[in-house]
Amino acid sequence: MHQLSTRQLSSKNDWEEDIVRKILAAFKAPKTLDQHMCSILGYAGSSQAAPLLVEGLRRMEYRGYDSAGVATSFMDRILVKKGVGRVFEVNNAVNLDSLPGDVGIGHTRWATHGKVNEANAHPHLSSSNGIAIVHNGIIDNYLELKRELSLSGYTFRSETDSEVIANLLQRNYDTTRDFKKSMITTLSQLKGKYAFIAISKDGGLAAARFQEPLMIGVGKHGYFASSDILGFVRNTDEVVYLDNGQFAMLSSKAISISDFEGNPTPHQITKISKEFADADKSDYVHYTLKEIYEQPITILRAGGMTTRELDWLAASIVRSKNVYITGSGTSFNAALIGKYLFSKYARIKIESLISSETQFSPVYFDSNSILIALSQSGESADVLETANIAKDSGAEVISITNVMTSSLAHMSSISVSLNCGPEIGVAATKSFTSQLAILYKLTNKLCGVLDAPDFNQISNNISKLLLNYSYIQQIASELKNVSDIYVLGNGIHQYVAMEASLKLKELSYIHAESFPGGELKHGPLALIDSNAYVVVINPGDSTYASMSTATHEVKARGAKVIGISNIPNEIYDYWMPLPTVDEAFYPLIEIVPLQLLAYYSAIERNANPDYPRNLAKSVTVK
Ligand code: AGP
Repeated sequence: MHQLSTRQLSSKNDWEEDIVRKILAAFKAPKTLDQHMCSILGYAGSSQAAPLLVEGLRRMEYRGYDSAGVATSFMDRILVKKGVGRVFEVNNAVNLDSLPGDVGIGHTRWATHGKVNEANAHPHLSSSNGIAIVHNGIIDNYLELKRELSLSGYTFRSETDSEVIANLLQRNYDTTRDFKKSMITTLSQLKGKYAFIAISKDGGLAAARFQEPLMIGVGKHGYFASSDILGFVRNTDEVVYLDNGQFAMLSSKAISISDFEGNPTPHQITKISKEFADADKSDYVHYTLKEIYEQPITILRAGGMTTRELDWLAASIVRSKNVYITGSGTSFNAALIGKYLFSKYARIKIESLISSETQFSPVYFDSNSILIALSQSGESADVLETANIAKDSGAEVISITNVMTSSLAHMSSISVSLNCGPEIGVAATKSFTSQLAILYKLTNKLCGVLDAPDFNQISNNISKLLLNYSYIQQIASELKNVSDIYVLGNGIHQYVAMEASLKLKELSYIHAESFPGGELKHGPLALIDSNAYVVVINPGDSTYASMSTATHEVKARGAKVIGISNIPNEIYDYWMPLPTVDEAFYPLIEIVPLQLLAYYSAIERNANPDYPRNLAKSVTVK
């Protein structure tokens, strides 16, 4: 493994702790409904729960890292420890993993509303301390329930909507003295999208799912309930996926699953692939860097989808009159490249939809329509909403996702896996090139005009580009104090420019803006002066001449130019060389050095690439 300068940089914990403190200090949020994207985890078994919960939360904290907490039931009491910060920080401060008891719950929070403080951190106790809960999602009718419970003497310690679940369960338990019965009553009273896990002081554990991810891990020494496989993958590879509207009662020896009316429902144990277990950094200092370096392999795996899957997808698209493609963030950038390829090579009329905008845009889905939905996590609320809107209008939904157990895969008539292994780094990297690999194969299938990419050659080219990291580090150090960067690309490259500017924004916090080179003179050129840094994506293809013109225009205004191209050119202040490949396939390789540039810019600015401020890996709320 080549030496990575980040090793010297990071006496890991010191600068991380410093970063977290700076981020938390900077993060002030309005006080309203406590919607959040978090990770929740529970355990009932014969081992001490707290260490298992802390280890599982560490693996899931890419879902949210503002606060963390654990609660266990022990000797007819519930013990709670929680605090502001990442799991390792809170554990260092209050020893979460020392809590006794073999039944417990844990939580990491990503606050969208409600301050980042200890009171709003989960777990939340009922006012009589008999029940504790952790929650992911939104309780829409929380205000009305809170008023009702307050009138019956239940008190509240936080601003969150989640705490209502604890007191509601407590009230129903106080009347029934039966944990399962009180769950059924509580579930009939809650409105919203949620997954929560509750424990009672006498050691009961219950977990319910309604439109937020939740699964059960079937272990040798007990049962887990978790938002994500990563919560328990080190302890078992056997999982039961809860469906919407189901809840589970877990004890050290038994599991029972019912619908919200309490009717027992059958369940199936599924084996999860071992690759989830190795979702660790191995000897990379960050997941993001590891995932960038995995691309020579993952692009081969994505490209290896079965012909049957390909035929299915292509047949569905060909038979549809109206074709739509959608996604959010990086997945939307991939969708735009898909649209370009289908239109240019397969001559298919296709419309792209930014998922968060679908509800506002005049889209006429009908039974002759097909929606191709791209989502790494398969849980992005905006993408799921677009898919629901399409399905409600009779359209077919097919999806390309990295989580075949996700809500999106479940609601699609056909779902194809990116097969790139768990992506932990919040910034999508390997999933983007895998999405492109599948879209290229699909285009080839749909038209035959575009040859199928030679993924071995692409993979080798990416490996060579990754070897050039030290030069990219040097450029990143030049950008250390730069506040604005412009990324230009023409034709298909404009979408790679959009992805590159997104990576620079979310990893290095540089304000990066992308636009087609031809748009410069229609306004953006006014921004260009000798302080400006401009990245031009300029391989030797049909866009070369027009992008060279744009490059001269910015150079003439004194800008520093970073050229991404297979053709050297004196006009570049920094040249990131590309291998020469078939014109159509440049997007598959030219994004890689730009991912590395964003990563090393983050390092140069002491930002934590794996946990960018204010972001989370899967955006499960609207
Ligand atoms: C990309 O780096 C970001 N993490 C974000 O834009 C992401 O692509 C977006 O939230 C969509 O996520 P999905 O692919 O899991 O739906």
